[in-house]
Amino acid sequence: MKHFINLKDISPKNLRKIINDAQKRKNLRKKLNHLDVDKDAPLKGKLLIQMFEKSSLRTRLSFYLAIRQLGGSTLTLRPDELHLSKGGESIEDTAKILSNFGDAFMLRTDSDKKLEEFKKHLSIPVINGLSPSSHPTQILSDIFTVEEIKKKPIQKLNIAWIGDCNNVLNSLIAASIKFSFRLKIGCPKKYKPNKNIMDYIQKNNNKIEIYLSPKKAAFNADVLFSDKVISINDKVNKSKKLKSFKKFKIDKKMMSYAKKDCIFLHCLPRGNEVDEKVFSSKQSKVWTQALNRVHVQKSILLYCFGKLR
Ligand code: CP
Ligand code: NVA
Repeated sequence: MKHFINLKDISPKNLRKIINDAQKRKNLRKKLNHLDVDKDAPLKGKLLIQMFEKSSLRTRLSFYLAIRQLGGSTLTLRPDELHLSKGGESIEDTAKILSNFGDAFMLRTDSDKKLEEFKKHLSIPVINGLSPSSHPTQILSDIFTVEEIKKKPIQKLNIAWIGDCNNVLNSLIAASIKFSFRLKIGCPKKYKPNKNIMDYIQKNNNKIEIYLSPKKAAFNADVLFSDKVISINDKVNKSKKLKSFKKFKIDKKMMSYAKKDCIFLHCLPRGNEVDEKVFSSKQSKVWTQALNRVHVQKSILLYCFGKLR
């Protein structure tokens, strides 16, 4: 049994295995319906319990389809209906029940500490469905999407991120280290990655560059990523933060600094950080990106269950 909490704790070999497995399974499903089960039904009879302490559309739907396509089922718990949040039941006791009733637990939470506590007390795998510090399932799926569209290993591509230094970027940074690809980050000075992340970068890698000029970050990029300036539950002065990011908007001009065939990716939901013209252009692959999450979630689940071939 393996947890899936942070990309930095998983070996490059296993991350690559997850991506390869997702590609194989995706190829085999071309003519199947959403709820048709993969032929080998590797998770038949297994129950994935999900809980979202923050809003979600894509992660919720993709895990639902993922476990169903593997032959299992899912149950989504509402945090406000559990004793954990209101009645004072401990994480330890909650985890014991989850472990006895289910086979894996997917948690989207506002607290990294809570994920660690669950990990300590669960005897089933826990998957991080987004936390304040990372969004690993999203980024692993995005690596899959990049390689699928570009038909090249990510090491051979220039990746750029223009926008807030948030949970999604933290996972992209971890991916850059694990997969060894070049990553240029463009962000305002005040919103650079925090000290922990900067230390992690310095200790592990020389392929990540941070620019205060978005133009420099976008230069020669094969892939340009962005995300909302204001994340869910971001406790900041919103208008001040949005103002600082004015020059970092992804518009046609920004895309023109990148390679001609550069693609635009965004985990969604979007805010004003991307211009409508870019978002709805041919270069934007956001819908494929979102749908690919089903395929990668499946292989993440198989990794957690020790069933990855
Ligand atoms: N990208 C993503 O995680 O979307 P949701 O917040 O809708 O799950
Ligand atoms: N950075 C965003 C990602 C949403 C999927 C957030 O945390 O709200």
